Amino acid sequence: MLGRVNHVAIAVPDLAAATASYRDTLGATVSAPQALPEHGVTVVFVELPNTKVELLQPLGTDSPIAAFLDKNPSGGMHHICYEVGDILAARDQLIQGGARVLGTGEPKIGAHGKPVLFLHPKDFFGTLIELEQV
Ligand code: CO
Repeated sequence: MLGRVNHVAIAVPDLAAATASYRDTLGATVSAPQALPEHGVTVVFVELPNTKVELLQPLGTDSPIAAFLDKNPSGGMHHICYEVGDILAARDQLIQGGARVLGTGEPKIGAHGKPVLFLHPKDFFGTLIELEQV
C-alpha cells in the first residue's frame, strides 16, 4: 500500500524564523509560505534531494496543530506523509483492518493539490500518518 515518503512535517511556533533557519543555517531550498485555511495551517516546504520537510504554523482559531504546540512550545515532529496510489482503496483497506481515519473519512485536498487523509496516531505507534494520493 505505501509508496515513498512524501514529507515529514514539523510544527513550529514561528514559521518565518523556522524558514530562515532552514534556509540560512541549514542551507536548504525553501518554498514561499502557503496558507491552507481548510487545514488550519500555513506551510513552507523545504526541498531536499530525496524528499521534503513541511514546516507547519497554525492558521486561524481552531487549528489542528494548536494543541500540539501547546504541548510542544518550541515545535516538534508532527506527522509523516506516505504516498499511495489509490487513497480510497487504501482507506477502505485500513478501516477493514481496524485503523481509524481522522475527520469525516473523506479525503481533503492537501498542500500539493492532491487528496490526503490522516490516520489516528494511536493506531500507528504514536505517529500521526498522512496519506497522499500521487
Ligand atoms: Co503533511
